Amino acid sequence: AQKGYDLWLQYDPVEKDLKDQYRGQINTVVPYGKGETLNVAVLELQKAYEGFFQKKLEKSISIGGQDVVIGVKNDLPPYVLPSVNNELTQINSEGFVIKKIFIGNTPVTVITAQSPQGVLYGVFRFIREIQLRKSLENINIVDSPKIQKRVLNHWDNLDRTVERGYAGFSIWDWHHLPELIKPEYVDYARANASIGINGTVLTNVNASSVVLTPQYIEKVKALADVFRPYGIQVYLTARFSSPLELGDLDTADPLNPEVRQWWKDKADEIYAQIPDFGGFLVKANSEGQPGPNNYGRSHVDGANMLAEAVAPHKGIVMWRAFVYSEHDPDDRAKQAYSEFVPFDGQFHDNVLVQVKNGAIDFQPREPFHPIFGAMPKTPLMMEFQITQEYLGFSSHLVFLPKLFEEVLDEDTFVQGEGATVAKVIDGSLNNKKLTGMAGVANIGTAKNWTGHPFGQANWYGFGRLAWDPYTDSEEIAKEWLKMTFSKDRAFVEQMTEVLLNSREAVVNYMTPLGLHHIMDTGHHYGPGPWVGNLDRPEWNPVYYHRADSLGVGFDRTAPGSNALSQYAEPIREMYSSPETTPEKYLLWFHHLPWDYQMKNGKTLWYNMAAKYQQGVEDVEEMINTWNEMQGYVDDQRFEQTQMLLQIQLKEAKWWRNAVLLYFQQFSGMELPDFIPEPE
Ligand code: GCU
Repeated sequence: AQKGYDLWLQYDPVEKDLKDQYRGQINTVVPYGKGETLNVAVLELQKAYEGFFQKKLEKSISIGGQDVVIGVKNDLPPYVLPSVNNELTQINSEGFVIKKIFIGNTPVTVITAQSPQGVLYGVFRFIREIQLRKSLENINIVDSPKIQKRVLNHWDNLDRTVERGYAGFSIWDWHHLPELIKPEYVDYARANASIGINGTVLTNVNASSVVLTPQYIEKVKALADVFRPYGIQVYLTARFSSPLELGDLDTADPLNPEVRQWWKDKADEIYAQIPDFGGFLVKANSEGQPGPNNYGRSHVDGANMLAEAVAPHKGIVMWRAFVYSEHDPDDRAKQAYSEFVPFDGQFHDNVLVQVKNGAIDFQPREPFHPIFGAMPKTPLMMEFQITQEYLGFSSHLVFLPKLFEEVLDEDTFVQGEGATVAKVIDGSLNNKKLTGMAGVANIGTAKNWTGHPFGQANWYGFGRLAWDPYTDSEEIAKEWLKMTFSKDRAFVEQMTEVLLNSREAVVNYMTPLGLHHIMDTGHHYGPGPWVGNLDRPEWNPVYYHRADSLGVGFDRTAPGSNALSQYAEPIREMYSSPETTPEKYLLWFHHLPWDYQMKNGKTLWYNMAAKYQQGVEDVEEMINTWNEMQGYVDDQRFEQTQMLLQIQLKEAKWWRNAVLLYFQQFSGMELPDFIPEPE
């Protein structure tokens, strides 16, 4: 069988010396309460137990020594509650408490929460503690998610192709739904619940209105029924022109009463089937998608109309800020801010404005999106991309939590120092009640879900950061490696290095020093800094690097596009001069001469070449380390990763050679000696 299907939920036998120690602390499971979520929590614990100890974990109805007692607070017996009451006051509705307590002289472990979902999260956490071989002896974990809506965005089409998907086809087998329920659906839900993901948008942002027909709502309901016990809400993308396409109306104008009624009826129809339906994700007036602008209306008009339709059912609208058009050739990076910031405070309470992490498009590195911090009266949802559209698809090993962490940690300075993006997103900066983080999924029908075995780490890491955006990416790397491959110290230490460096490696060999969007046009795979074959200027790589004989880079300071003005002070001032701009963002904000002298005293041209060369060497190093890991991992994934790393190396060289050769025609400068002759 293909290794990797089990993701990080591998419940392999615990080593002999630890087995008795653990087993001595888990006698039986004693569930209190009823319901399908509690049932799946018990089942998961039993499944894990059997894997760890090759013995069935019995259920009991009364508490004995070393039992695991699980249940929501209100279902716990009165003699248990006092020992966890204090902890229970510290968690939110999805949080949990795992605590070793004594009832009289009887030691038991209690896993409790305010809600069944919290209990399930507690159970998964308890299992993870064993997977990570942590001691259960005095266990006392009190944890809550810091972000409310932790959502995967599937860019899956109804014909099962996946936009920017590199792991096979869509896992949603629409054709056989609602009757055929695949085991993958359950395992998908388990994997998500284990990291706290509580929502999934099933369909592509470039939406089809067909998913809103009764025939499809029935299919969506079938999936929602599978996911519900795991605390996962289902959402759909709403194509703005649906009333026209499905409803016999001749307009989709959001201020038209018939259109408003159409959406209300549609929402009622969906909620009648799926009472806990999450709501809609909308891409409007972006890349040719229909939207309120088609009728001379604003994003607020569009978003609020849909928000009103789902509000009676407690639904939300995630309205995307990813907008730019060919009619604004000045600077694409500025448009979302200009279009959305003036509307701050006008969106209804159940609208989240969903903003990509950077102002262009999921590049290997971008400065944080200037909208973060600039709309204090509007809940902003982070949109990360887990699928590696611009980062080597599923051929390259890139550990994305490092990228996510970098963005979340950036200081927007909007309310003085310490106003990090994470604080905008978790609502703490401006006291927001509704909060969210979305990740564009990298999941498909590949037997290991993500194609590249290490792509799983990005799904895992997204979930962990959506739960707690302050989590250290190093901790995520270690956890994932231990649960996925091996707990051996030597393995974990060396491979943690590999994961943590892999993000910088891809930046080095693709887009160092603030270069961006120089991938080949359309598919975005491989280098293509030259003029592409797409007619829209802002889809052309030359638009972004602006190389000529005088220099390279995009001047976004005041004499240039002045996109910099969208940031707060002191960023504005700092980045207005190349000398005080972090070198990682240099060419994002400045157009500089090829012989511009950088901090190390060498020219820009020399430094650019050095970065590309470094990227190649980074991959060589990854390969060397991986080759030493053979003894720690199964042959299948060892060899698969080894072969994929060869692609990555070949392509890192391809990137280096192509980009340097291309830019050399402008720089007219010699390549430094460390760049090898082409093979
Ligand atoms: C990128 C991507 C598109 C996608 C778009 C979006 O531009 O290439 O495929 O539709 O982002 O996020 O809407």
